[in-house]
Amino acid sequence: MRILGIETSCDETAAAIVEDGSRIISNVVASQIDIHARYGGVVPEVASRQHLLTIIPVISQAMASFSWQDINGIAVTFGPGLAGSLLVGVNVAKAIALAKKIALIGVNHLEGHIYANWLAPSPESSPLKGEGTERVKYAVKFPCLCLIVSGGHSDLVLMKGHGQFEKIGRTRDDAAGEAFDKAARILGLGYPGGPAIEQAGASGIPCLALPRAWLKDTHDFSFSGLKTALWHLVHKGEVSVVDAAASFQLAVADVLVVKTIEAAKQLKVEQILLSGGVAANKMLSQQFLAKSPVPVLVPPPQLCTDNAAMVAACGYYHFQAGTISGYDLDVVPGLSLE
Ligand code: KG4
Ligand code: ZN
Repeated sequence: MRILGIETSCDETAAAIVEDGSRIISNVVASQIDIHARYGGVVPEVASRQHLLTIIPVISQAMASFSWQDINGIAVTFGPGLAGSLLVGVNVAKAIALAKKIALIGVNHLEGHIYANWLAPSPESSPLKGEGTERVKYAVKFPCLCLIVSGGHSDLVLMKGHGQFEKIGRTRDDAAGEAFDKAARILGLGYPGGPAIEQAGASGIPCLALPRAWLKDTHDFSFSGLKTALWHLVHKGEVSVVDAAASFQLAVADVLVVKTIEAAKQLKVEQILLSGGVAANKMLSQQFLAKSPVPVLVPPPQLCTDNAAMVAACGYYHFQAGTISGYDLDVVPGLSLE
């Protein structure tokens, strides 16, 4: 069973073919990061125009060794994301599905991120290779607790089976990735902030006292106070950028790790599944693996950030369950997981 995945929800134009929900056959991602970096963030109008330019070449490259008869379904992200960007992927997917008589499957981008954990990694792509911490990636066990940490979301989701999601926690203000991006701007480290802070922080010492919002008795997160505290420290002067980056990264990781593990114990889940761009952070995954009493699954970094293989994997399980979309599939920019 081969599914073509298409992803255009934000600033990556991506297409991938995945077999049986786990084997990546092709995986093409055209990033727009260089184009948006000069503005310090994603410019929606620029993003949708860029998707228009690249979507057909990206799909052609993903399909290079295949013809349309080889494809059983087309899975496409229909939300959440930028309306103009989502429209490009959804309309291309609808056009191909109609013309080639292939099943169309609308995928929630957040669900897609979770399904990156079903993709079989190539051994050399594991971020934790050689550290004695590798896990078998495609043996997900239910119930599991999913932490989705991306540029727009920080959600804790209890997953009892395929398609069964219960959101138990969310951010009350900034998403974790958004906090990384804003902190990087405060520190003059450029865009996107996550990789920039991780790189700078590697040569720093986490010696600055930054606050952690524990929000006791809830599974919610909050990162805006941390960002403001960093701003005050920097504007008081005399702060080393690398130490500030290391301290900020540790503060975000502390809260994510402690609160997720606490929830995992309460809910008695079998596993913790990390996903979303922030899960590409090596220090975060190492902390999880070191502290969690249950196995932690982490996709390789390139499957944590936006890609279409995760959309195809998710689409496979929808296809199996018979949840196929009609040609009236429309974008839902504010889609959530409940
Ligand atoms: O999942 P993603 O690619 O796109 C969204 O769905 O939002 O996540 C992008 C976010 C950005 O905020 C970026 O700064 C963050 O993920 N990110 C990271 C790292 N790589 C990307 N944050 C921390 N450490 C990283 N290595
Ligand atoms: Zn994403």
